[in-house]
Amino acid sequence: MKDGIKEKVIESTAFVQRLRWDIHQYPELSLKEERTAALVEANLKQLGLEVRRVGETGVVGLLRGKRPGKTLALRADMDALPLPERTGCPFPSQVPGVMHACGHDAHTAILLGTAKVLTELRDGLVGNVKFLFQPAEENNPTGGAHILIDGGALDDPKVDLILALHVWPDLPTGTIGVRTGPLMAASDRVFLTIRGKSSHGSAPHQGVDAIVAAAHVVTALQTIVSRNVSPLEAAVLSFGTIQGGNRYNIIAEEVRLEGTCRTLNPKVRELVPERLVELATKVAEGFGASCETSYVRGYPPVVNAEEGVELIRRAGTDTLGASGVLQPEYPGMGAEDFAFYLERIPGALFWLGCTAPGARKVPLHNPEFLVDEAALPIGVEIFVRAAMLYLK
Ligand code: NI
Repeated sequence: MKDGIKEKVIESTAFVQRLRWDIHQYPELSLKEERTAALVEANLKQLGLEVRRVGETGVVGLLRGKRPGKTLALRADMDALPLPERTGCPFPSQVPGVMHACGHDAHTAILLGTAKVLTELRDGLVGNVKFLFQPAEENNPTGGAHILIDGGALDDPKVDLILALHVWPDLPTGTIGVRTGPLMAASDRVFLTIRGKSSHGSAPHQGVDAIVAAAHVVTALQTIVSRNVSPLEAAVLSFGTIQGGNRYNIIAEEVRLEGTCRTLNPKVRELVPERLVELATKVAEGFGASCETSYVRGYPPVVNAEEGVELIRRAGTDTLGASGVLQPEYPGMGAEDFAFYLERIPGALFWLGCTAPGARKVPLHNPEFLVDEAALPIGVEIFVRAAMLYLK
């Protein structure tokens, strides 16, 4: 496309890369994004945007176009993960045990690059662009989106449409993935405590074995997905921890389990905990034990609106050609707290391919995960084009 946008994006590449290296070297955990927020704030001010802090570490920048119109929000998350980095990159984390293993360093740098390019293109904008830099995306079940939402980031001027991206190692650099409807899953947490009665291991009949009861509870809960959820719906119930007992020859009095439940359809999201509480309680009771359940709702599903998806498709096609814009056959069962914005206003999240063609795929939240640098200007260009298309 001969509209000068690609050239401006290319000019901004060094700026984006420098920021990305800087943020990658100084990763900060959820709600501790002080250095990152200060860096974002300083850069937005330098560009001449209206900037304000929301909460401790949230930052919102507002770019007003030449003429009034609609308001588009673009959102990036800024937090890192408690993992020791093993990427071998030339700009590794300087903070022991903390790294950007979910690519939020790239998200933040891409959004700052977008702010820079759109500032240069301001005269062509009818309306406003709001840049939301959000803390604590990794802080499930609460997340950080509510900090910006409760802090009024979507008001004054009121946001009409919101977009975001997430780097996606399953897709090669030079492609994006986007689809209408659910793209990512609701993520809830499950806690179970099964209580029996201790006795000597040689005399189990004198006690109530919490381990045997727990084994049956875990097995019974597998039937929720296989027997209660429609075969045409998606649901995952996984227990990642089980702990109980004190000694090999003592009947265990207590077993604790922790798990995660992922769903796409709000109705299925209601059904699973109902069945879970009923089954776990009654199965445990059948063994003379008790089961205390706690079901904590985390992030809702990310449900993309057609309007947002169409905008990303057009911006993506202008950036990468039609062959670069993929429609994933299935949503992912991972979660993103961008879902909270989408409960309030229409919008869409897209996956930005970030594995160099031919390179080994490393999943998110892995100590070896590293975003391919060539993905950064692609993210910038798609955001810039989406804003220019929406605010024509
Ligand atoms: Ni992430």
